[in-house]
Amino acid sequence: MYYAKITGWGKCLPPAVLSNADLSTFMDTSDEWITSRTGIRERRICHCNFSDMAIVAARRALAAANVAPEELDLILLGSLTMDSLCPNTASLVQNAIGARNAASIDINSACTGFLYGLHIGTNLIKTGAHRKVLVIGGEFISHYMNWARRDVAVLFGDACGAVVLEASTERTGLLAARIGCDMDTSSAIQITNFGSAYSRLSDDFLYLGWNFEGQEVFKRAIKGMAFACEDVLMQTGLRMDDIHIMVPHQANRRILDALAKRLDIPEEKIMVNVHKYGNTSAGTIPVALTEALEENRIRPGDYVLMASFGAGLTWGAGLVQWGDRTVALQVSDADLPPCQQSALEILAPHIQRYKAHAL
Ligand code: ACO
Repeated sequence: MYYAKITGWGKCLPPAVLSNADLSTFMDTSDEWITSRTGIRERRICHCNFSDMAIVAARRALAAANVAPEELDLILLGSLTMDSLCPNTASLVQNAIGARNAASIDINSACTGFLYGLHIGTNLIKTGAHRKVLVIGGEFISHYMNWARRDVAVLFGDACGAVVLEASTERTGLLAARIGCDMDTSSAIQITNFGSAYSRLSDDFLYLGWNFEGQEVFKRAIKGMAFACEDVLMQTGLRMDDIHIMVPHQANRRILDALAKRLDIPEEKIMVNVHKYGNTSAGTIPVALTEALEENRIRPGDYVLMASFGAGLTWGAGLVQWGDRTVALQVSDADLPPCQQSALEILAPHIQRYKAHAL
């Protein structure tokens, strides 16, 4: 049997920063409210396409693994903010990086997209069906944001991350996973007025609405992630004390604190960067994982616990045993096109549009 070793990792953060103070220039909110309720201080706003971020993250992960694009046989891309409905965005990444021998699949399970992809990619390697898989997770959620909704707009940001999985006989990579979906709360996070369930004849077809039940999501997130974490520990025969670092979905600092308390895991073992980027949905785990490696918080052989939740409400956890290398083999010079605008300048036309709609 093969394991799926994580041999490369990379992230892409767009440079334009939107602070809490910036948000309070066009909506009735404050740094105090956002920081105390969520822990978020700022987030990034993308100035190009989602696939541009995915391509940069992919190139950086491939360089870290020293894997040529032609060696890949599968690309899995977790996101809910794809460039287009057709073709899929994984194929755009495939074309841009030159992964001519890969199959390309988009996965939409919202914030759990990366974890679902890691689970699927790992198991396809374990069966012998694939040998080198690129798993990408990320979001261009500012594109779908309703800038008239202060309860939603302050929470999210744009980013993308990626890992390379390679077949290995070493006991390494994702050792156990548990994924699921609370089917009775599918409307708790919902983007409305977009998709084939909505009339194309409606006057406000382009006005994106959001159903968002923050407190319900809060409770379910903790319950779902705690259950999934306990399940992967049971599957592997490990205890919480054996975990070296937890890399959870970064939605809200208060959710992370409550999860830590419930799982009885010390705060210093939890990777937190939600203050810098907000909730980047499927991007949070691969970006936080890359930063944990850059900050030398993961050592060879460490047990890394991941947990996530998102619209659906999807949830899951994964337990990774890190391999023998925590340093990138090569560094890619791939980057986004230059950004000439501030985050507020990028968003100005969108904010105007939502303001006009509200009048
Ligand atoms: N600024 C100022 N006031 C605000 C803001 C804002 N940005 N947003 C809401 N308020 C107001 C509300 O209108 C309300 O006012 P009222 O009492 O006069 O009616 C008050 O603040 C309290 O609102 P609540 O919704 O009760 O605030 P709560 O403490 O529950 O915090 C939050 C809201 C942060 C959304 C919280 O419920 C939460 O974190 N939920 C988890 C949801 C989450 O993180 N989702 C992201 C996951 S989605 C995904 O991962 C795909």
